[in-house]
Amino acid sequence: MKFSSKTLSLVITLSLLLSCCAEEVQPTIYNDEAISNEDQTSDWLAYGRTHNERRFSPVDDINVNNVADLKVDWFMDLPNDVGLVSTPLVVNGVLYFTGTMNIIRAVNAVTGKLIWEFDPEVGKHIGNKRQIGWAHNRGISFYEGKLFTATWDGRLIAIDAKTGSELWTVVTFDPKRSLYITGAPKVFKGKVLIGNGGTENGPTRGFVTAYDAETGAEIWKFYIVPGNPAAGFENEAMEMAAKTWTGEWWKHGGGGNAWHGFTYDADLDVLYIGTGNGSPWNRKIRSPEGGDNLFLCSIVALNPHTGEYLWHYQTTPGESWDYNSNMDIILADLMIDGEEVKVILHAPKNGFFYVINRKTGKLISAEPFVETTWASHIDMKTGKPVEIEGARYENSPFDITPNPWGAHNWHAMSYNPQTGLAYIPTLHQAVNFSDEGIDLENWQAVEFSGGIGVRMSGAESEPRKYPASLQAWDPVKQELAWSVPQDVFWNGGTLTTAGNLVFQGRSDGKLLSYHAKTGEVVWTYDVGLGISAPPITYKIKGKQYLSILVGFGGGYSRGGPSYSLGWAYRKHMNRLITFSLDGNADMPALPPPFFPKPLVDSNFMIDDALALEGAKEYGKCRNCHGGGMYGGSMAPDLRASLIPLVKETFAAVVRDGARNQMGMPSFPDINDDQLEALRHFIRKGAKQTLPQYEHMIKNMATKEKSKTGTLGH
Ligand code: HEC
Repeated sequence: MKFSSKTLSLVITLSLLLSCCAEEVQPTIYNDEAISNEDQTSDWLAYGRTHNERRFSPVDDINVNNVADLKVDWFMDLPNDVGLVSTPLVVNGVLYFTGTMNIIRAVNAVTGKLIWEFDPEVGKHIGNKRQIGWAHNRGISFYEGKLFTATWDGRLIAIDAKTGSELWTVVTFDPKRSLYITGAPKVFKGKVLIGNGGTENGPTRGFVTAYDAETGAEIWKFYIVPGNPAAGFENEAMEMAAKTWTGEWWKHGGGGNAWHGFTYDADLDVLYIGTGNGSPWNRKIRSPEGGDNLFLCSIVALNPHTGEYLWHYQTTPGESWDYNSNMDIILADLMIDGEEVKVILHAPKNGFFYVINRKTGKLISAEPFVETTWASHIDMKTGKPVEIEGARYENSPFDITPNPWGAHNWHAMSYNPQTGLAYIPTLHQAVNFSDEGIDLENWQAVEFSGGIGVRMSGAESEPRKYPASLQAWDPVKQELAWSVPQDVFWNGGTLTTAGNLVFQGRSDGKLLSYHAKTGEVVWTYDVGLGISAPPITYKIKGKQYLSILVGFGGGYSRGGPSYSLGWAYRKHMNRLITFSLDGNADMPALPPPFFPKPLVDSNFMIDDALALEGAKEYGKCRNCHGGGMYGGSMAPDLRASLIPLVKETFAAVVRDGARNQMGMPSFPDINDDQLEALRHFIRKGAKQTLPQYEHMIKNMATKEKSKTGTLGH
């Protein structure tokens, strides 16, 4: 029998339609071609699955019709981990992920059995050098048999994926600077790129560096903001950027740190980086005569081989609200006015959803996806936001939405080319900004103590009745397709699949699946602990799996309002959980939410003057233990801790580094008077907040009683 090529393709199409599920397509060599292949079904090869960073899987074995049957297939208890936020990778049957203190584990993706563990010994490296930052990071990269990871203390490490042994290590920044890394390195064309965070922790100047994947040799470096002109500019881009700054900005570093949001465009061979906010936030200090302050809050396109500047689009010119543009940069091909256009989808903190032509850097469209009280709209002629008068807290305090958590933070957005929708973990909160009483002229950030040059307090009213939502956004129409209001803040990233599904974990411990077209809830599972990481999916030997790291982490987990979730430090087992349709693992339930009780020691005579001194010292601790000392899920609640009760143990932990291995840095320069002041501050805080605690517990008991008729516990 003879077939024309047309009939043959029809036969193939028909047989594909008839077979139940997506075929398993597995790469053999893990190079750029493999990482770019959207049709591959077996693996999860990059942070956002492929170079396009869409977090879309073509696998549809698990779909809207059967997702209700999803059950735990295997799980891994992670007793030493807290606040997990990372995206695992799956390569050729092995699942790799980073945990607390940047420990990497390789696990059999079918059985959950540990293959190897790599410990970069972050405790040894933080010591007294890293008094800021986080014990966790958001992911790793894989390329031609190697894994790449970046550590809290700034090292970039290549690891043999088979054995877990170290191949090379480079130090990516001066350890004396108040920088840190929480991001996943981005690997492309034989190079590995990494940036850093720390804009709020000192006078920082952001940059990214690309290294040779084979040897670790530095290939290029790109600074995000210009340095002191007297020292000469590194390149023409910096010379151009300097024209948008005023005053002596270099004394403040300028900021722009790229801590997240790196995308390699394999179609166009271009690299995009999302850049950070200003250091400090307040432009009146940073650049007193105004100016756009390039390349803050931008997407910057670079030549991936040389680091040479190609184009930029700035989302928030002259930023003054922590509106960084470090959020996901997703690559899509959209039909716009009858033509297929290669675009970037970007939903940064500032509340606008941007569609940008990635060939030219030209803005195609931008609309607000939340309330935006700082700007009314984007002027399509200039490509710039039209600001609302007073938004720069020029003369008086001003209520701003979104607040610095952003309309969307690092929690992953996904894009489904079949529904044409982007799924955004959205936040709705306001804040009041004021710089009244701050000496703007003489303000200067101090390394490791930092500062932002503006004060924040509660806004008069919140933009909505609910603090967060899951939004499905149509990037072509630039409008909301559907939205699910959520009454908990800081929910996890999203995954979308050809099974017509969207998955998202919430901070209240629920993992949900939604119908991708309607937002209808089609599956719910209670994991018993807040979720911050995004789920992934993969298919091995004809079976589709869904994996997610469970643990509540990131900035918001440092107590304060998140205290009411009850995910107190080390009270709940963090886990890696993998689901399948025929899973039957017996996973023990976790204890109920726990609320540390402020400890009041009647033998301790609180000296108010000393407590006031201690409040100043506490600036060093706030970054991890939170404003109110609540601690949250990533650091202990100091009000409830026994350690500060005894002078000597307190000194051993805070000054001498007894807990370095667990992510508590040491402060060798702190003197006895300062330690004593801190102890009084902690005792006073505990005493002051005990009534609030008792009130909250009473309220909860009443609520519980009205729900069940009896007091559950
Ligand atoms: C970079 C983050 C970070 C900073 C900054 C930090 N801590 Fe900690 N701290 C931690 C973590 C994480 C732990 C838990 C370590 C462990 O599991 O033993 C901890 C533990 C502690 C403990 C022991 C509590 C207990 O009950 O086990 C005390 C006390 C403490 N910190 C005080 C301070 C003080 C005071 C400061 C400021 C001078 C400070 N910390 C700054 C992260 C931090």
